[in-house]
Amino acid sequence: MSPSRIPILFLAAAVTELSHAATLISTDSSFTDINVVLPPADNAVTISPSFVSLSIEQDRWTDWSGTTSSNQFFYNVMENLKNLTGSPPGIRIGANSEDHTNFDHGVQYAEDIFPAPNPTTPYPEATNITVGDSYYTTAKYLLPDTEVIWGVNFGQNNLTAAIVEATSIMQAFSGPEISNLGISLKFLEIGNEPDLYMNNGLRPKNYNVTQYVSEWTHFADAIFEEIKLNTTSTRFLAGAFAGSSSNFEGFSPQAIFNLGISNSLAGQYIQAFSEHHYQGTFCSGSEGVLSDLMSKANIRGNLSQYASDIQATNDQGFDYILGETNSYSCHGAPGVSNTAGAAIWALDYALYSATLGIKQVYFHDGIGFKYNLIQPLTLTRSILDGSPLSAPLPPHIQPQYYAGIVAAEAIGRYGNTLISELPIDNPQISGYSFYDDSQVKRLVLINHTPYFQADATAVKIYFPDRCGTHNIVAKMLEIQHSDDTSGLTWGGQSYETPDGLIGGFVSARTVALNEHLGIPASQAALVAFQCS
Ligand SMILES: *[C@@H]1O[C@H](CO)[C@@H](O)[C@H](O)[C@H]1NC(C)=O
Ligand SMILES: *[C@@H]1O[C@H](CO)[C@@H](O)[C@H](O)[C@H]1NC(C)=O
Ligand SMILES: *[C@@H]1O[C@H](CO)[C@@H](O)[C@H](O)[C@H]1NC(C)=O
Ligand SMILES: *[C@@H]1O[C@H](CO)[C@@H](O)[C@H](O)[C@H]1NC(C)=O
Ligand SMILES: *[C@@H]1O[C@H](CO)[C@@H](O)[C@H](O)[C@H]1NC(C)=O
Ligand SMILES: *[C@@H]1O[C@H](CO)[C@@H](O)[C@H](O)[C@H]1NC(C)=O
Repeated sequence: MSPSRIPILFLAAAVTELSHAATLISTDSSFTDINVVLPPADNAVTISPSFVSLSIEQDRWTDWSGTTSSNQFFYNVMENLKNLTGSPPGIRIGANSEDHTNFDHGVQYAEDIFPAPNPTTPYPEATNITVGDSYYTTAKYLLPDTEVIWGVNFGQNNLTAAIVEATSIMQAFSGPEISNLGISLKFLEIGNEPDLYMNNGLRPKNYNVTQYVSEWTHFADAIFEEIKLNTTSTRFLAGAFAGSSSNFEGFSPQAIFNLGISNSLAGQYIQAFSEHHYQGTFCSGSEGVLSDLMSKANIRGNLSQYASDIQATNDQGFDYILGETNSYSCHGAPGVSNTAGAAIWALDYALYSATLGIKQVYFHDGIGFKYNLIQPLTLTRSILDGSPLSAPLPPHIQPQYYAGIVAAEAIGRYGNTLISELPIDNPQISGYSFYDDSQVKRLVLINHTPYFQADATAVKIYFPDRCGTHNIVAKMLEIQHSDDTSGLTWGGQSYETPDGLIGGFVSARTVALNEHLGIPASQAALVAFQCS
């Protein structure tokens, strides 16, 4: 560590208009020290420009894409992210409804059969989805250069049905409408959460990982040969498990590699392992607790359990992704997953994942789900309890979308950006530094404290000697209350606009030496600067 560092203190003045930011940090209050190091820390890892990605429930996929023209709102909010990093977010289409989908040439787009909504599940997934060729070709409405993961039905254990789906997917992506835009099928996924099949009736009660690997190999080899998979663009994604035993006995990356899943004809084209993770569950309709979700310690506990799985996957030369993730499974917890506090959770959850070597994080979204980043369609009933809305609710973003924006802006457009976690000895504050190659450029600082519990926490940042004390700019993710469902701003600007395009003027603030940075409870800051 450099012996003499320049302490720089910022004041919460940029956010004084906020109710709970009104208490400014006085100079004699205690500070949390943050030490910035100039060359990338030993534990710095590359972070992909498409790190924050989306997983989409496939029963209503065409509501996201559009059918005869693109869904402009969805396109715009994806482009906001792309413009910050230079690469569009990855899109995975599949999930639970992937194992309830069949293909029929006679169907245009998709035909869905839905159960009745109820207060716990206001927007239930279709139980039976039949799709035709045009369902897959709507991928042409994605942003140019989007990399797509699509899943085929493995749950019903009908190889013929999986092959006809895979054939239609491959045809769509090799056609000029999609390939001329640089949109590619990056991965084919075979089945969703097969480690739950013994519980949900899709396999016998004694189904185990040995049978899974044998069936997966049978399906993948047959699909590979039948559709002449273009391995230049498309590889197989292994796993998509709901959990992990992290050992050789249960369902885990360790077990499937040990059983030789990557040795077969198709298996040699596996390139990544996908894990699914939710930090809690709302499946029984019980409440989630926002302060538990936002907790720095809980986020670390939930993600660090995968450290040995990530290592085992990387040891094979494969990437490890969270291919489906969000706050509370079964579409989210009302008043928790749809709030500003969940944006604080999602920002730290994503960035902490990156520091563990997780390649991409796919936040799961479905039409009307509570934990969405985006609601791309006009809704007529409440996402919280299914009650009819007094007026239709046009397409809009939800608070967690801001987590994607802040992460994207921190990653930036440089192309080879590294991230490392800042060691911060405070259970409520987390932080990350971002390096463009060898130069430290930006910090993200997150205050996990729910608003109703405390005020701002002051941090004191020690920059290396070689960093100028000018051109230090702080931008705040401003949140009034952790349980707010709207009204967030990012550097004074809002994405809560009719077309999803940014509104208002940026209020990033240049800060001078010896100012104080107060990070109000339940807010986050992006600090950008130059070191020469
Ligand atoms: C993204 O950047 C392009 C090129 O500068 C611009 O044309 C487009 O309007 C931007 N998109 C959004 C959503 O701001
Ligand atoms: C699903 O819907 C299709 C088309 O309507 C129908 O042919 C099929 O029998 C249905 N499958 C189930 C399991 O209900
Ligand atoms: C398997 O799928 C094919 C193609 O959809 C269908 O014709 C066949 O009836 C299915 N087999 C069974 C046993 O359901
Ligand atoms: C396979 O994919 C590559 C990369 O996208 C593309 O250049 C090539 O034309 C594709 N080959 C076929 C036969 O579609
Ligand atoms: C799975 O069950 C089969 C017998 O049905 C057994 O041979 C195999 O060892 C089991 N695999 C594991 C990992 O327990
Ligand atoms: C994950 O977070 C939840 C709170 O959101 C907590 O109850 C649970 O214990 C955490 N799990 C682990 C493995 O740390």
